[in-house]
Parts: sequence; C-alpha cells; structure tokens
Amino acid sequence: MARILIVEDDPNTLSGLIEILRDEGYETVGVKTGKEALKILENDYFDILLTDLRLPDINGLSLYEKTRTTRSGMKTIVMTAYSSVKDAVEAMKKGVYEYLTKPLNLDELFITIKKAIQESEILSENIELKKQIKKSYAFENIIGKSKVMLEIYRKIEKVAQSQSTVLIRGESGVGKELVARAIHYNSPRANKTLVEISCASLPETLLESELFGYEKGAFTGAVSRKKGRFELAEGGTIFLDEIGDISESMQTKLLRVLQEKEITHLGGTRSIPVDVRVIAATNRDLELALQQGKFREDLFFRLNVIPIFIPPLRERKDDIPLLIEYFIKKTCEENNRPIMRISEEALDLCMNYDWPGNVRELENAVENAIVLGEGDIILPEFLPLTLYSEADRNFMKNMNSHIDEDSYRKRMEFAERMILKDAIDKAGGNKSLAAKNLKISLRTMRYKIRKYNL
Ligand SMILES: Nc1ncnc2c1ncn2[C@@H]1O[C@H](COP(=O)(O)OP(=O)(O)OP(=O)(O)O)[C@@H](O)[C@H]1O
Ligand SMILES: [Mg+2]
Repeated sequence: MARILIVEDDPNTLSGLIEILRDEGYETVGVKTGKEALKILENDYFDILLTDLRLPDINGLSLYEKTRTTRSGMKTIVMTAYSSVKDAVEAMKKGVYEYLTKPLNLDELFITIKKAIQESEILSENIELKKQIKKSYAFENIIGKSKVMLEIYRKIEKVAQSQSTVLIRGESGVGKELVARAIHYNSPRANKTLVEISCASLPETLLESELFGYEKGAFTGAVSRKKGRFELAEGGTIFLDEIGDISESMQTKLLRVLQEKEITHLGGTRSIPVDVRVIAATNRDLELALQQGKFREDLFFRLNVIPIFIPPLRERKDDIPLLIEYFIKKTCEENNRPIMRISEEALDLCMNYDWPGNVRELENAVENAIVLGEGDIILPEFLPLTLYSEADRNFMKNMNSHIDEDSYRKRMEFAERMILKDAIDKAGGNKSLAAKNLKISLRTMRYKIRKYNL
C-alpha cells in the first residue's frame, strides 16, 4: 500500500483529503505545517508528498528541496491556488513532480497520484536492476557474466585481502592487466602505489636497473643514484607483466627478492628491505618452459601461490554480446557520437569467430567499426575481414551437426549481400556494370539492391 503525506493548513481541506485518499486505498498521514512534515519525514517513509504550496511556516517548495536528497524516491505534488500557478511551474522546474490547482479536481488528483506511484516504482526497479547488473556483470572495469568470469570476480575479492603472490595466466588480450589492477585497487594497499612493469619490453640490464635501482657510477651513464621500481612500490603492489620472458639470471635475482623481501641496488652492497605485494602475469606456457629447463621451478612455485587463469574469449562466448555493448558505449562516448547498436548479422559473425586476440581484438574490431561505420547500426561489412572466413569455417563445421533452415537462409543472404556489395564497389558504384559482371539482369539487380538496402 502506497503512503501519502499530506501537508495542508486549511483543516477542512486536510481532513477531506485524508479521508478521500484513504477511501482510494492509500495510507495517509496529514499535518498542517511544513515543520511538522519535516519532523515526520525524519523517521518515516512516504511514496508521495502532497503539499500546499503556500504554508504558514515554510512553503511547499522549500519543503520539497529540504527532502529532495534524503528522500529521493518520494514524489512531490504541490497544490496551489490558480493565482500562483507561476510559482508552481517554477517548482516543477526544480523537480517537483506535478502541480494541481485549487479547487482540486478529484479525478485529476487520483490520476496524478497513480502515475507518480507507478513511476517511482519503475524508478526504484531500475535502480535495483542497475545495482544487480553492476554487481554480477562487472567488476571494476572488467566486463563479463560467464560462469568463469563470475568466479574470477569472487577470487579477486578474496585474494585482494591477502598478501600472497598472485600469478595471472591466460592468452594475450584476455584481461590479465585488468585483473591485476582490480586486485590492487581492492586490497588494503589500494591507497599506495601500483607499479606496473612489462618484463619483456626491456633488455636485461635495463630491466635489472629498473627493478632494483642503482648507485651513482654503477655503469656508464649512472650519473646519480636511482630508486628501483620495487622501492617505488613500497607499501603497495608491483605488477610484473610477461614474467615468462625473463632471462635465467633475472629469474635468480627475482627469486632472491621474493624470498628475502629485500633488494640491492646495482653497484651497491647494502640490502634494502621492501614491503611489496607481487602480482605477476604471463601468456607463456610455463609448464613447458619448466620441462625445458627455461624457467626455474623454485621461482615458479614462489610466484604461483595463488594462480588465476583467465580462459580465452572463445571459451566464454556468452561474454561477447555484453563486451560489445560495453565497447560500443565506451567508444561512442569517447567520440561524442550517439550510441550505436549492432545488427543481428554482425553479432552472429562475432559469435562465430574464435577471437585469437581475445578481448583486445574484439575491442579493436568494435572501435574500428564505429569509426569507419555510418549511421547508427554496426553492419557486418564494418567488421574486419578475418571474421568472415573464420565464421564460415565454423558455420560449415556446425552445419553437419544441426541443420537449421533459418540459419541457412541467413547465411545465404549474408553471402549474397557481401558479393553484391563487392561487385558494386569494383564497378566503381556503377550498378548496371556490376549487374553485367555478375551476369544477372538489371531488374534482378535493382530488386536485390532494394532488398539488401545497398
Ligand atoms: N573482461 C574485460 N572487460 C573489459 N575490457 C577487457 C576485458 N578483458 C580485456 N579487456 C580489454 O582488452 C584489452 C587487453 O586487456 P589486457 O591488457 O588486460 O590483456 P592482457 O591479458 O594483459 O594481454 P597481454 O598478454 O597481451 O598483455 C584492454 O584494453 C582491456 O581493457
Ligand atoms: Mg598485458
């Protein structure tokens, strides 16, 4: 049952309203002044505030403004004499839901209240929905609702609280860096620094001096003492990306840091204690590297205290539509364009593709399609060509297992559209020439152009 707070200084009108609205099935409370209303609102919840605009103490508009932030779900309806409609309109501009002129028309009153309640119900449903979506489909900037991703969110939350070393593994572009950041920013170290370094991008000696720092004169060019990244991350987290690419001697040095929790500057002798949480990531097959003796087993076990594996996108295809939607929104907003949507065929294509470059490849494809595309729909032809052959292969594969007339037709039409478009392009936009090259009549061509909106 919806609850209405009525504020009206005229006792007859007040008692009349209380009764009428009660008869309509609402729970009503009536007061004569703004102050009394504020007092009641401190501890009680109402769906609707129905108030006279002119009250003896504070007016209806300031009453609304005082409750706006604390009672954001409540809708305010003001009642006003015909002579002060202007004030009522002003009040609506400030966010009051509706005004009603006195003498009140009861039908209008009932309809307005009903509408206001419906809207606030929709609104609160929306807020609830948004909260749920946010909770289950995303973690920080990580998007995905597949079972594995939900498990990864839970794991991030848990491991963030511990100090243990984390090893994040997965193919290139699956989101290892995002996960590393999410762990740091959800950990008690969040207000300290997260230092990120890609171990593959630097030659060995440089990597060493970057990580551990150096003393003045440690090597040519070391004109002054410099702190290493481990020191810069003091109290925080260091993210060692592409750890599978470091040399054997670096492996030994890193192992020492993990064991002793101290570093030594290049050219220095003093040990410097460091309090740093280590997160490492790699897309390498470390088990193979272990077998081949290319990666130290003891280092592997030191790093792999908490393993997190992010599966490739092709193994969690139910994340694809959500990711596409997310990247569309992101790119359109960045480019100040109205939000586009993706056509069914284009989405089909994305779902049938294996995404060897994983989420990064998908992100690039969507970005490209938006930049290259026209209109407000992403059509298949705006997607990278690599998607087609792959999708066709998968299509052929699936064809033997289940034959679905609808998907046959879709594929045919899709292929036909592509061929027509290609022929028209090659003919420099000349449609009769394109028809001739395709050995179809101009009439058929015209028909297909209309059909496929070419
Ligand atoms: N689940 C996801 N939600 C949103 N964006 C994602 C997701 N996964 C990856 N991305 C985006 O894809 C791109 C690649 O992700 P990231 O750099 O974390 O991959 P990676 O696993 O570290 O790859 P590499 O091994 O090549 O370094 C980034 O732009 C990232 O924002
Ligand atoms: Mg990375």
